[in-house]
Amino acid sequence: MNETIIVIGSNGQIGTELVMNLRAKYGNDQVIASDIRNTDHPIINEGPFELVNVLDKDNLHKVFEKHRPTQVYLLAAILSAVGEQKPKLAWDLNMTGLIHILDFAVEFKTAKVFWPSSIAVFGPHSPKENTPQFCIMDPNSVYGFSKLAGERWCEYYFTKYGLDVRSIRYPGLIGWRSEPGGGTTDYAVNIFHKALANGKYESFLSADTALPMMYMEDAIRATISLMDAPAENLTIRSSYNLGGISFTPAQLSAEIKKHIPNFEISYSEHDPRQAIADSWPKSIDDTYAQNDWDWKQKFDLSSMTADMLKNLKGSIHKTI
Ligand code: SER
Repeated sequence: MNETIIVIGSNGQIGTELVMNLRAKYGNDQVIASDIRNTDHPIINEGPFELVNVLDKDNLHKVFEKHRPTQVYLLAAILSAVGEQKPKLAWDLNMTGLIHILDFAVEFKTAKVFWPSSIAVFGPHSPKENTPQFCIMDPNSVYGFSKLAGERWCEYYFTKYGLDVRSIRYPGLIGWRSEPGGGTTDYAVNIFHKALANGKYESFLSADTALPMMYMEDAIRATISLMDAPAENLTIRSSYNLGGISFTPAQLSAEIKKHIPNFEISYSEHDPRQAIADSWPKSIDDTYAQNDWDWKQKFDLSSMTADMLKNLKGSIHKTI
């Protein structure tokens, strides 16, 4: 089948890498990047691009009409830290944007939709270690409960309208080709840039804050594997847990020190992102992903750190 794929939110941390990988798999012209802004990122500009605001329903409808996509990836969202500064906008963008896409996917018979959820769907009363797929979920960030509600909508559209929606609860994502935008797990990317540029970093999370994280290469491979899996194998239509690597800022710093012995980490106090991190799991059980679509993670803390540093070295470091 000749695929036409639209990636909405293509200029963000996941979008950039996903567009690159989907274009390698399906061809540049089959993958339409789209975002609310233009970009000069070379990866995005290697193929077609559409300006899209997911809240602008008329324009979005025209884009669906023009391209009649077979697959849509909706990545446009406001993440956890920025969501706390702009709660109503985060809710509106994350929720209304999703419902627009689900409705148009039904109307235009889009074969498959991908929508990312997050470890942020869990809350203070969820089990902290090896958090299971099904448990108490009481997220207390706007981002977290917008993702939890979004999961319910995805499952609802699958059950009620037969829409083939697939989703992953991403851990914090770490990659070198693109920068994160406004999340609680951003420290784990910023630390690499600062380690190479200045040899030191002030972490906004405390030394012993363990969170589930994942190297971008694994995250993209997981996304494409899930989208390629036979529909009948998928038993989860809300969103799949994905485990990743669990570590603290102190552990990541120790790993970086193996490559940059003079690297120094310090810790800020009273950062509002600490409370968000404290409400999230420390590690995740992803048995369903392993069983349903054969998920196997490749990178651990040491191989991820080595690969990040190798790839970031030599590039020009912006201060972030
Ligand atoms: N990485 C995201 C954040 O920190 C969670 O999905 O907001």
